[in-house]
Amino acid sequence: MSLLNPVNIPLSLYIHMPWCVRKCPYCDFNSHAVPDGQLSMDLEQQYLEALVADFETQVEMAQGRSIHSVFIGGGTPSLISAQGYQWLFDRLKARLDFEDDCEITLEANPGTVEHDPFADYLAVGINRLSLGVQSFDPEHLQRLGRIHSANNALDAIQQARQAGFERVNVDLMHGLPQQTEEQALTDLKLAVEHGATHISWYQLTIEPNTVFFRTQPVLPQDEVLEHIQEQGEAYLKANGYVNYEVSAWRKEKSSAHNLNYWQFGDYLAIGAGAHGKVTRPDGVYRFQKTRLPKDYLAKVPAEHVQMKRIEAEELPFEFMMNALRLNEGVAAAFYAQRTGLELDELNQKLMQLREKKLLIADSQRIACTEQGHIFLNSVLEAFL
Ligand SMILES: C[S@@+](CC[C@H](N)C(=O)[O-])C[C@H]1O[C@@H](n2cnc3c(N)ncnc32)[C@H](O)[C@@H]1O
Ligand code: SF4
Repeated sequence: MSLLNPVNIPLSLYIHMPWCVRKCPYCDFNSHAVPDGQLSMDLEQQYLEALVADFETQVEMAQGRSIHSVFIGGGTPSLISAQGYQWLFDRLKARLDFEDDCEITLEANPGTVEHDPFADYLAVGINRLSLGVQSFDPEHLQRLGRIHSANNALDAIQQARQAGFERVNVDLMHGLPQQTEEQALTDLKLAVEHGATHISWYQLTIEPNTVFFRTQPVLPQDEVLEHIQEQGEAYLKANGYVNYEVSAWRKEKSSAHNLNYWQFGDYLAIGAGAHGKVTRPDGVYRFQKTRLPKDYLAKVPAEHVQMKRIEAEELPFEFMMNALRLNEGVAAAFYAQRTGLELDELNQKLMQLREKKLLIADSQRIACTEQGHIFLNSVLEAFL
């Protein structure tokens, strides 16, 4: 393994906001119901201060780089005030520069009590919104335990656009309990017609440690799921959306932040349970912050609960697991630049996958074929 040079690897920043008004029964993210359904100004300020202290401990990992993109995820990050973000960004920028055209995404929930006016977030420098809609169908919203109505969701997209956000992602889930093909398609149509410039379209998965895992709601048959997938894809394509990653559809630019994850770029990570990845001359490291908000606040700055170097033998799989999610794959040169390994060492595996017509790999680019995307898991097994 040769020495790595992080300078040419983009460095993003993930910020985790761990609270929600209510915990949804299908969700296994690190999110916790906020006491009394409202985040107090005291708790907000205490958490923001802890984030700054956390960031300070990570500045050395930047190794001279500026911040390429920021993603504020949750939880429900829109429970934090726009003013709070202004306070936070001022302090983060005093410690590390943000690139001039830095993409800053905020995950926002559509409920009226779940966000400040969108114009206020735009005014403090957030330039991309990601709205957690999930469905526009009142019955499905109720079954999913969401606190927003269908109208809240439609209004939120329009309000975001009217406030001046040119980039509005809508998160939708499909394959919901008892969902028909028509209902799933209607959800996509409403998002498209109301101005979503990007759609993240996820099939619902039943995760351990969730209420849905215990109650096992009845999900649509496999045949219905396949039809939803096929028809949804056809509808989005016909309406000018480009599928650039397994679940990501864009009508404008790709999400710079998510693209950096998939291109095996680096990211600092602050906030309860946040995961980061950084390249150092001697290897690629992953780290994680303590998960529970109360523990994160009890010891400031929070420690890294794990800082682990990825073993050289694990790097080919780790790299491919990210890169091959992208429809266009990645530049072949990224492999050596971001793992410190030579692509030639994989020649035999690449050739076998090429012969099976699952992979396109030459001196320029590594990508799955259409068939390779369908059988992504077996393609990835080759790199284990
Ligand atoms: C980290 S969540 C936070 C977004 C925001 N709090 C919300 O729910 O409105 C990001 C997205 O993951 C998706 N998601 C969450 N749980 C899921 C599950 N069990 N299966 C599929 N997608 C899921 C949802 O679309 C959600 O909007
Ligand atoms: S609002 Fe989002 S993050 Fe919070 S519990 Fe529901 S799905 Fe999870």
